[in-house]
Amino acid sequence: MSHLLFGAFEINGVNLTSQGLWARPDQNTHRYTELSYWTELAKLLDRGGFDFLFLADSYGYPSLEGETPPVAFEQAVEIPKNDPMLLVPALAAATDQLMFAVTTSTSFEAPFANARRFATLDHLTKGRIGWNVVTTSSAVVTDLFGRDRYVPHDERYAIAQEYLDLSYALLEGSWEDDAVKADKVRRLYAVAEKVHKIHHHGRYFDLDGYFNCEPSPQRTPVLIQAGASSTGRAFAAGNAEITFLQGKDTASLRSQVDDLRGRAVEAGRAADAIKAVVGLSVVVNESEARARARLDDYLSWVDVDAARAYYASMTGIDLATLDPDASFSSVQTEGGRTQVERYRGSSAREAAADFLRYGMREFILTGTPTQVADRIEELVGETGVDGFNFTPFVSPGSYEQFIELVLPELRRRGLAAPLDRQPGTFRKRLTGADRLPASHPADRFRRSTQAAAVGS
Ligand SMILES: Cc1cc2nc3c(=O)[nH]c(=O)nc-3n(C[C@H](O)[C@H](O)[C@H](O)COP(=O)(O)O)c2cc1C
Repeated sequence: MSHLLFGAFEINGVNLTSQGLWARPDQNTHRYTELSYWTELAKLLDRGGFDFLFLADSYGYPSLEGETPPVAFEQAVEIPKNDPMLLVPALAAATDQLMFAVTTSTSFEAPFANARRFATLDHLTKGRIGWNVVTTSSAVVTDLFGRDRYVPHDERYAIAQEYLDLSYALLEGSWEDDAVKADKVRRLYAVAEKVHKIHHHGRYFDLDGYFNCEPSPQRTPVLIQAGASSTGRAFAAGNAEITFLQGKDTASLRSQVDDLRGRAVEAGRAADAIKAVVGLSVVVNESEARARARLDDYLSWVDVDAARAYYASMTGIDLATLDPDASFSSVQTEGGRTQVERYRGSSAREAAADFLRYGMREFILTGTPTQVADRIEELVGETGVDGFNFTPFVSPGSYEQFIELVLPELRRRGLAAPLDRQPGTFRKRLTGADRLPASHPADRFRRSTQAAAVGS
């Protein structure tokens, strides 16, 4: 795959990052409860040549010292939020080549039910579905699901690995590829001998039975992961096909990309088996100065208390309680570590100033369309990333600008894919094949692979 991947970073709610921008006159995220808002956006992205709509999600909401501050409701910080999965069928029906990535949690969704939903979406979208696998670091969710303990960071990933192994067994191992005949003449829908019970008895999950979805185009949805901690990257190396990396400077991003490639090879996969994607925000205007002024205007709407609550909901850390002069390298958390590790070299004051202004945005480019395209080309050269997760300031305005002014320039340079792409599955877009390769760990759950192992 030669062209850069472009994702659209969204949430089925009012605010993604940059808490407070929802109130701008040119911001339309307050319409998130309307299906027409999403079909309009999906059609814009589809026509504009975006590769996928990424729908982040969490059941969680901010909590500071056990209480949810009023600002969380006043500025809609992670609450309210609707279920993103329910948007996908309608958006797939309204588009041709746009892919969809939906977030679900390995800590709170039942593996059988989750696999069934993704298999169903894989059927309905003809394979245009990806799964953003998260472990849910938000502490309030433990209480929402009546769990008796908050699971520490690394154990959440151990649970996630067993969860994925069980998901692979269900999605790849229960039905043989040619089990379904749907033969009305012979009145034979499926061959019973080609459908197999799964028996899983692990440390965290137990399951005995058949998967009740027949094989779908990709079987396993495209696997996406976004934890940049060391444990998170090990998990990605063993499972993911797309990973969202963190980083505002090319050096740290380059090292993360190289580390990820190395870990993939160690896991027996190809070095480029995982597409490295980083967040990108863009403000285009006739001049660099005018674009910067527009950026400052956007950021002037950020509500600092709301941003503080947002940081806490992801990391479990209240920035206001830290000694401003202390080094961030001393900050520890069992919550999400990515947003902590990114400030390792900073003081608490510097970290707070950065996050309370920019949120979880990574690269922010301002300038004319040519200047922005130049910078994107440089970034790719310097870091080796495979694509960008476009993080808008205002919707749909930021997308319209990028689609109208920057993507055509990137296409002219051969960096972005042509618009007349052949429809196909998400995985085919990434690898040229619909199914996970034999080098992926899921392969060992396939009947054919197990039979070959027994036969050898
Ligand atoms: C681009 C991006 C999107 C993310 N989307 C979600 C999400 O939708 N839901 C969620 O619970 N966490 C999300 N996260 C958080 C990660 O899944 C992960 O919990 C976090 O990065 C911490 O991982 P770590 O502790 O392994 O560093 C996202 C992170 C990034 C960088």
